[in-house]
Amino acid sequence: MKDALYEEIVSLLSLDFAQNYNVLDIGCGGGDFLGTLSDTIGSKSMLVGIDEMDDQIISAKERYPGIGFHHEKFIDSLCYEDNSFDIVVSIDTMECVPDKTALLEEIYRILRPGGKVLFAHWDWDTQVYNSEHKACIRKFVAEFSDWQQDWMETCDGQMGRQLWGLFEGSGIYRGKISSFTLLETEYRKGKYGYDRLQDLVGLVEVGSIETAEYEMVCSEMQDLADRKQYFYSLNSYIYIGEPHNKRIQSDAADPRR
Ligand SMILES: C[S@@+](CC[C@H](N)C(=O)[O-])C[C@H]1O[C@@H](n2cnc3c(N)ncnc32)[C@H](O)[C@@H]1O
Repeated sequence: MKDALYEEIVSLLSLDFAQNYNVLDIGCGGGDFLGTLSDTIGSKSMLVGIDEMDDQIISAKERYPGIGFHHEKFIDSLCYEDNSFDIVVSIDTMECVPDKTALLEEIYRILRPGGKVLFAHWDWDTQVYNSEHKACIRKFVAEFSDWQQDWMETCDGQMGRQLWGLFEGSGIYRGKISSFTLLETEYRKGKYGYDRLQDLVGLVEVGSIETAEYEMVCSEMQDLADRKQYFYSLNSYIYIGEPHNKRIQSDAADPRR
């Protein structure tokens, strides 16, 4: 579902495919990003994914047996050595992390000097559906964006647009921000826009969206698809940076030793 986004991320990392890298994916879900990366990276690379959901880790291990997946929840620390990763990636996870400052500091600690951090996040307020029912669509997009689903400890539907400020404002990274637009004209199961509309059943069940307006929009989407007029898009924002002013202290250079 997110293949094009993952390919964009791999391209932004500007990897030398003959090299080996130590890569950590925080909130790796079912492991698809690392699976994509493993096809294009040196075979002696060490790929590690962590996720707080046990079922996601079980599925990731089954699908990508060559990759190290661990059931681990980030609270305020990461269980890895200083300077042990070349690349740390996280995709659509940051909105769920309560202590974002601690996460940035821990990534700084485990990245080697000159290593890369890459965070990508959908900005849910940028969801676009072509529709005659403009008020309904605006409401659906806002409700989805503000929806803290059961598996989320915290949420922020505008996380995408905040990545730049979080990283650059921390003072410990220097980088750049770019955007990726997912654009779909097909309305069927497995497509992002279709599946997100199905997700809204959860908001119908709790009464935030009325059944009649939901059914009206679903029927309109099918009708638009039949007439080749269905259109959906969503923006992801992607921060890529390096730890700022990070050097490994050698014993000889450290006067306190
Ligand atoms: C929206 S999913 C994204 C999964 C994957 N990165 C992808 O590209 O599809 C967010 C994932 O982050 C995980 N997650 C959320 N908070 C976490 C935390 N504090 N520590 C580890 N994993 C976390 C969730 O379990 C979930 O699998």
